[in-house]
Amino acid sequence: MLRCLLFLFALTVGGFAHAQNLEKGKEINTTCAGCHGDLGQGGSRGEYPRLAGQGAKYLEAQLRAFRARTRVNIPMYPYTQERELPDEDIRDVSAYLASIELPTQWPVFKATDDALTRLTLTERVMIIPRVPGNLANGEALYQKQCVTCHGKTGLGRGMFPMLVGQYTSYLKRQMEKYIKGERPHDEEAVGGLLDKLKEDDLQDILAYITTLQDQK
Ligand code: HEC
Ligand code: HEC
Repeated sequence: MLRCLLFLFALTVGGFAHAQNLEKGKEINTTCAGCHGDLGQGGSRGEYPRLAGQGAKYLEAQLRAFRARTRVNIPMYPYTQERELPDEDIRDVSAYLASIELPTQWPVFKATDDALTRLTLTERVMIIPRVPGNLANGEALYQKQCVTCHGKTGLGRGMFPMLVGQYTSYLKRQMEKYIKGERPHDEEAVGGLLDKLKEDDLQDILAYITTLQDQK
């Protein structure tokens, strides 16, 4: 009986702490929203990446990398300094951003939905436009060389970022940074994976990723 009560107590406190962290994360996110959007949807066609739905562990790692300047991000530097973004805030804002779901389909409205409801529902929809490329080649390369880390449907896991649903221009810019050695991609792969691919191959992979959105 006592054990059962203790268990319930732990559950309640745990649940409360979790909700509180998300609330705090939401508050912190107001300083990020100017660039990354209220819902973490990113903006300016990929100048600011989407953060919503990205893995919390990955987001935390990137914020720490910006703070330590191992990943260079000049616009974000002042927001990630120790005083501005301590570890606890990094965890809270990452958990909050990871919890935001952005649908990839247009909502079906009910006749009774008013204009505001309709606007709120459509605001969340995030569809990345298809881009040209050889899809068969993109699929073959992706499924052979990227799938072990970024996942079959591009959703990533743990430290491996979600690529699907991210702005193509942002992904392309990151690929270029990896190839130039400005950002480490995956330390274990000597010389990097992306260096070995031709520019057309990278474009084909990007084109293929834009077709994966509806498979969630
Ligand atoms: C002044 C604009 C600006 C603000 C404010 C800002 N960011 Fe950013 N952020 C950027 C830019 C630009 C990039 C992309 C950098 C690049 O291309 O490598 C970025 C990238 C990121 C990334 C990497 C995403 C990925 O997929 O690797 C994360 C995580 C991130 N920001 C989180 C945040 C959080 C959390 C806040 C608030 C505490 C914030 N940013 C505030 C401009 C901003
Ligand atoms: C061995 C694991 C691994 C493989 C295989 C892999 N990646 Fe990655 N990828 C990573 C990791 C880890 C990161 C995050 C790097 C960091 O922390 O900055 C990443 C990041 C990325 C990013 C940046 C995402 C963002 O939000 O900033 C792109 C784009 C990318 N990978 C493309 C690819 C492509 C294309 C392939 C296949 C040709 C591939 N990756 C294969 C591990 C991998």
